[in-house]
Amino acid sequence: MMDPKTRPSALLGELAANAERPFSEALGFPAAAYRSPEFAALEAEKLFRKEWVCVGRTDDLPKVGDYIATDIAGVPVVTLRDKTNAIRSFSNVCLHRMMRLLAGRGNCGGRITCPYHAWTYNLKGQLVGAAHMDRTPGFDLAAHRLPALRTELWQGWIYVALDPETPPLAGRLEALDRMIEPYGAPAYGGALREEMAWKTNWKSLAENYMEDYHVPFVHRTTIGIYADAEFSEHFESGDAYHSHAYVRGESSPRGLAHPGNSRLEGRWRRTSLMICIYPSHVITLAPDHLWSLSLLPNGTGEVKVRFGLSYAPELLAEVNDWDAFVAERKATFDAINAEDRRTLEGLYPALASPLATPGRLSYLERFTYDLNRYICRRLEV
Ligand code: FES
Ligand SMILES: [Fe+2]
Repeated sequence: MMDPKTRPSALLGELAANAERPFSEALGFPAAAYRSPEFAALEAEKLFRKEWVCVGRTDDLPKVGDYIATDIAGVPVVTLRDKTNAIRSFSNVCLHRMMRLLAGRGNCGGRITCPYHAWTYNLKGQLVGAAHMDRTPGFDLAAHRLPALRTELWQGWIYVALDPETPPLAGRLEALDRMIEPYGAPAYGGALREEMAWKTNWKSLAENYMEDYHVPFVHRTTIGIYADAEFSEHFESGDAYHSHAYVRGESSPRGLAHPGNSRLEGRWRRTSLMICIYPSHVITLAPDHLWSLSLLPNGTGEVKVRFGLSYAPELLAEVNDWDAFVAERKATFDAINAEDRRTLEGLYPALASPLATPGRLSYLERFTYDLNRYICRRLEV
């Protein structure tokens, strides 16, 4: 029998009650919010199939025909650079017998060719070739076009929305834009891209990324040793995002503006911004680097993680040995990611305990409260 607490209506009631408390009295998410398949289905429908989801950065697609395939809540999507240099997204499902067209990432040349019966589409999604279909009466190539999906660029990232009614992303991020504009994020260049699948719920990973509380403990041998007293400063979050700042100590070996950076002044030269574009694009925008995860849930207990690391242009200009630079960064971030992964994959089974109840939050966990309130807004509870 279903535990009454896991019923979506009871769970939504708990979330709504928590959202109404002041932050100082709030609790974390109930365990069922991470484990309930019914709740995950609601999130897929009301969050991931409606909101703007990050699929990558523009420098992931430098050449015509470069593509990246993404599953957004069970909907296969492909994003590519077309012959006019525009970035477009389409349904990644063939219009014949519904085969997935492209997988992973790569370059498809000037055409998308279905791996099944080789129907061929141009980079605008128009069907331009279909073998043997000339014997099918009334078959018209021109009448076949892959459904186009709305695609927006923001600060160098590419976002896709499946729902044609979703309001544009840009208008929802204006206040954030004003704050981050001096960083010059679109000019940060890519160094590392990885895809991973972690056995945990997507919200646990988003919460973990966005709170600094665990850093001195989970990351005690990596980034934790640089945590200092000037921990977090919270900004007001918008309807579509959360952000707060992290000010590093003067002696931190990372996260400080390069001497050649004339865009940032004063304390901003040591300030990293932690941003979540709801629902699941989490970003660290530092004066010297940009670290982001786009989280794509697959049911309750698995999340596909699209990891990206980019660097400020004045730092990249000094790199002599690119391979050594990337290898050193990869080793560092592999270690950090492994620490978080171990923690979150250990957390997920514990959430199934009937004795698991959420506790009070520290001031460093404002994101958890904001995410709870955002989910209530979008689920209309
Ligand atoms: S399913 Fe694509 S060509 Fe048949
Ligand atoms: Fe962490």
